[in-house]
This record gives sequence, C-alpha cells and structure tokens, in this order.
Amino acid sequence: MNFDRLAPHYDWMEAVTAGARLQRARTHWLDALAGCHNVLSVGEGHGRFAAAFLARFPHAKLTCVEASPGMIEVGQRRTHACRERVRWECAEVLAWQPREKYDAIVTCFFLDCFPAETLAQVVDHLAGAGERKVVWLVTDFLLPNSGLSRLRARAVHALMYSFFRVAVDLPARRLTPPARLLQDHGFKLQSRHDSEWGLLRTDFWRRG
Ligand SMILES: C[S@@+](CC[C@H](N)C(=O)[O-])C[C@H]1O[C@@H](n2cnc3c(N)ncnc32)[C@H](O)[C@@H]1O
Repeated sequence: MNFDRLAPHYDWMEAVTAGARLQRARTHWLDALAGCHNVLSVGEGHGRFAAAFLARFPHAKLTCVEASPGMIEVGQRRTHACRERVRWECAEVLAWQPREKYDAIVTCFFLDCFPAETLAQVVDHLAGAGERKVVWLVTDFLLPNSGLSRLRARAVHALMYSFFRVAVDLPARRLTPPARLLQDHGFKLQSRHDSEWGLLRTDFWRRG
C-alpha cells in the first residue's frame, strides 16, 4: 500500500467527495481526549486530525506514525505551527517500534485499510503501545446491518475499495469491523457516534 501518489491530491479529493463530513467524524470525540498528554496517531496521513488535536490541546504531545513520505510532507506542512509538539515517524505500522507508552491512540480511516488477518496484528501491536490505562479513538467507514442505508453504504464501499485498490494497492477488499479485536484487548466502548446514514462511525474506547 503506497499513498505517495495520492498525497498531493488528498485534500481536494476529500473536499470534493465528502466536504466537511470526514473531518466532523475525525473530531467528533476530540474533547474526550482532554487530559491525555502523550497521544499516538497511526496512519495520520495529511494531518487533519493532528492539526485539530494540536489546536484544541495546546499542552499535549502527538506522535504520528505514517508509512507514506508524501503524506508526511503534507501533514508536516499542516501542523508546522505546532512543530515542537508533534513528531512524525515514517514507518510501516507493524515494523514500527514504540519508544514510549501512550495514553491515547487515534486511528482515523486507517483500520479499514486492512484485511482481517492483518487487522488483528495491527490492533495487537498498537494495543501494546498504550499505557495500561489508555483510550483509543477509532474513526472508520461502516456497513450498517440492514435497510436502504446498508445498500447505499455497500455501493459507496464498492466504489471506494475499487478506487483505492487501483490507486494505492490497498490490501483490504472489504471492511472488517475492529470492535471485537479491541474488546479482546480489554477495551470497553465508552461512546459511539454513527453519521451519514450509517456510513461513518467514530468510537471512543477505554482500557483500564
Ligand atoms: C485512508 S488514509 C487515512 C488518512 C488520514 N488518517 C485520514 O483521516 O484521512 C490511510 C493512511 O494510512 C497510511 N498507511 C497505510 N498503511 C499503513 C501502514 N501499514 N503503516 C503506516 N501507515 C499506513 C497511508 O499512507 C495513509 O496515509
């Protein structure tokens, strides 16, 4: 999976296809991170969550782990004003070795990039990077259980996964919900917000 090719276009593509919807989902539970001082965002990409987080919490530190140098360049530009509080690490998540433990983990539209087997490894690896007491903010696409919203979401997913397969060689062919994996690692769901007729989900999880 290589997002470099998309990096220069990511901002305008998001604006045209989704307007402010994805950013609203990324930041829906932002205030729940109050009191977290050392936060990890993985697959941070173009830095939209990072910029909102750093602006909202002027004393917190953020580490962004991201595999694409092109995305990091865009993200660094976006968070330049807060550069003393944000560290960008260019690494593939499963090869990344945390230098410290974090009190919050954030994944925005990242876990939905992986097929089931890899997703289990990713969740396991990231859960190990958290303090014993840690929160995890997960924002991803969602497939509702039934009804018209499910049909609509299936059509959107089909388009989206086909596009990303061609554009960045995305390994996932469909969405794998991460909830059970988080529960297996001791996380309990604190708050859930679904939006866009069940197409987007933002969950706030806590362990310990
Ligand atoms: C769908 S984009 C989401 C970007 C951003 N978080 C957002 O909210 O739009 C997925 C991001 O994860 C990064 N990524 C994909 N696989 C990765 C991996 N194995 N390790 C680290 N980053 C990865 C990509 O480079 C890309 O920036």
